[in-house]
Amino acid sequence: MDRTTPRILMCPPDYYGIEYEINPWMKRAVGADHGRAQQQWALLRRTLEDLGARIECLEPVRGLPDLVFTANAGLIYGSSVVLSRFRHSVRRREEPRFAAWFDAHGFERIELPAEMYFEGAGDALFCGETLFAGYRFRSDVRSHQWIGERLGLHVLPLELVDPRFYHLDTCFCPLTEELAIYYPGAFDDYGRAVLKAHVPRLIEVSGDEAASFSCNAVVVGRSVVLHQGAPKLTAALRANGFRTHELCLTEFIKSGGSAKCLTLRLDGEEAAAWRRLAWASAGP
Ligand code: ARG
Repeated sequence: MDRTTPRILMCPPDYYGIEYEINPWMKRAVGADHGRAQQQWALLRRTLEDLGARIECLEPVRGLPDLVFTANAGLIYGSSVVLSRFRHSVRRREEPRFAAWFDAHGFERIELPAEMYFEGAGDALFCGETLFAGYRFRSDVRSHQWIGERLGLHVLPLELVDPRFYHLDTCFCPLTEELAIYYPGAFDDYGRAVLKAHVPRLIEVSGDEAASFSCNAVVVGRSVVLHQGAPKLTAALRANGFRTHELCLTEFIKSGGSAKCLTLRLDGEEAAAWRRLAWASAGP
């Protein structure tokens, strides 16, 4: 395999479902349709493969319905991974599964000190050299500080203020080292000012389009894969030279996740400056 081939970790939704309620989207009484979830996930996988990505699969586990959300496995940095420590005990049971996968695939595993919460690429996204890190609902700010010191990174913590947008990847998505989309209503004044000061170009997403999880997009090169129904955002993306691929991901939105949450970029997010150097050095 060419070291520049995008590599993405996914987990088939064999045991996916709404079995508990840990965010405002999840309603056990509503549930998710199993057949539709399988189809939607398969189409996401195929779309990413058609874009040239190599998909690696984590084995699904009965009793771990949210294991499909591999963005929460950890934060990838070169050949290292900072393993997540979930806020909610129902998801903490996923940690050994993710850890075993990273061990088996040659990543150096970094573990946070006890009592720190961190939910991986759901809450920590590179835009250029900087790691933007969301906190409050899931990850805590101390974990971000610790990661910054441990990896020698410039980290900018952003407080999330709307419980519907409880992970950073539900309201912010870097597209390149200089361009990102975001939903301003998910941040406080300070967070908005930090984003404006540190991301050269920002595309604003409206409240209604953000509520359909359109910020939760997967970026592969100049292609953006996202849930359908965000015409203003997709027009803005096309005007900026991106192709858009709109899929139906309703069954996963019922759990508070969409395209991006279902993926973990193993060779580094598209906008991460370190990717330019990483494939030149030996990695897993
Ligand atoms: N039901 C999952 C949870 O509440 C959804 C996770 C979505 N993941 C994400 N990266 N935003 O934890």
